[in-house]
Amino acid sequence: MEETTNILSRYGWDSKKAEQFRSDLLAWYDANKRDLPWRRDNNPYYIWISEIMLQQTQVATVIPYFERFIAEIPDIKTLAQVDEQVLLQLWQGLGYYSRARNLKIAAQQIVERHNGQMPQTMPELLALKGIGPYTAAAVGSMAFNLPEPAIDGNLLRVTARLFELDADIAKASSRKQFAAILTELIDKERPGDFNQAMMDLGATIMTPTNYYPENSPVKAYDASFINETAEQYPVKSKKIKQTHHHLIAYYIHDTEGNVLYRQHLDDELLTGLWHFPMIEYEIEHLAATKKELLEPLAERYRMNWLSDDTIQVNATVFSSVKHVFSHRVWHVQLITVTVPNKVSPRDIPQKWQWVSSRTEHTVPISTLQKKLEQLLMLE
Ligand code: ADE
Repeated sequence: MEETTNILSRYGWDSKKAEQFRSDLLAWYDANKRDLPWRRDNNPYYIWISEIMLQQTQVATVIPYFERFIAEIPDIKTLAQVDEQVLLQLWQGLGYYSRARNLKIAAQQIVERHNGQMPQTMPELLALKGIGPYTAAAVGSMAFNLPEPAIDGNLLRVTARLFELDADIAKASSRKQFAAILTELIDKERPGDFNQAMMDLGATIMTPTNYYPENSPVKAYDASFINETAEQYPVKSKKIKQTHHHLIAYYIHDTEGNVLYRQHLDDELLTGLWHFPMIEYEIEHLAATKKELLEPLAERYRMNWLSDDTIQVNATVFSSVKHVFSHRVWHVQLITVTVPNKVSPRDIPQKWQWVSSRTEHTVPISTLQKKLEQLLMLE
């Protein structure tokens, strides 16, 4: 039976054109698809992990992370029980660390609710921690053949160009319009391949700046190509402005090579990862004297010993490091503080650690921390 709701016809597409489009797109995909480790079989666990990693990160970067992750944590049951520090270490450098913590929580939910097997319906997938409409559709279509469009940035751009859609892709409300079109357009037999073909097409041919790709397998269907309007699509309003923050990071070390680290708490950015202690300051208040530099830290964390005369501060040697989050930019100035010998553990806040700089890291650190350590050449 033909579907009664027919959105494609509003754009001049009849069912024959839609069928031809699917067939041309999938033929191109079959001949050109990228060989990616999570595509080699239809393991739902592999697809899920890769999709979470790919959310903010390029395919080329993800591949080695994915391989290591799967080697260490081969299945959902293992993930449900994995040590958080091991998990964060495997994620180290990928950013957006809550994704890794959510993976573990979702794995526990899958063990409890579904006996350790990835659920196969959209409502069950959507009920898992960290799985939103995109990931549910990606896993559902690729692993279980559910006819759900997985609408990422590539699908938005490709679809906006194909149909000359004026909906603003920066607005959540536009999603419905894209979803309505793609739900009709998706290949019902091969929905996972359709989604991945659209992703590959967007990533390799219909890229943000390649407006008129002569080698596009779907240029004959592409209204923006035919009408030479591709520069106008997708429509995207300016995103929220980033705010800039200035911080001091304190490289506090003793003469035996022990360095003081603190773990970021749940309500901080980079939660769970270990860093040099940091304090945010107003740029116009950048202090110059030793006392002024150490006081905020000593007060905030009750480390009176920092005001001892034997402690040396060197604030001038190192430049600052810039670290960009989605809506925030940190400019972190590194200063070194030399303490004469190891301060007894009771004088540092609970859960902080002295870590020997002469041994390999045993605690997970962020990319920001890595950059700070590179300044010091601790690595
Ligand atoms: N980006 C996100 N998921 C992807 C996939 N499965 N294939 C290619 N690119 C992707």
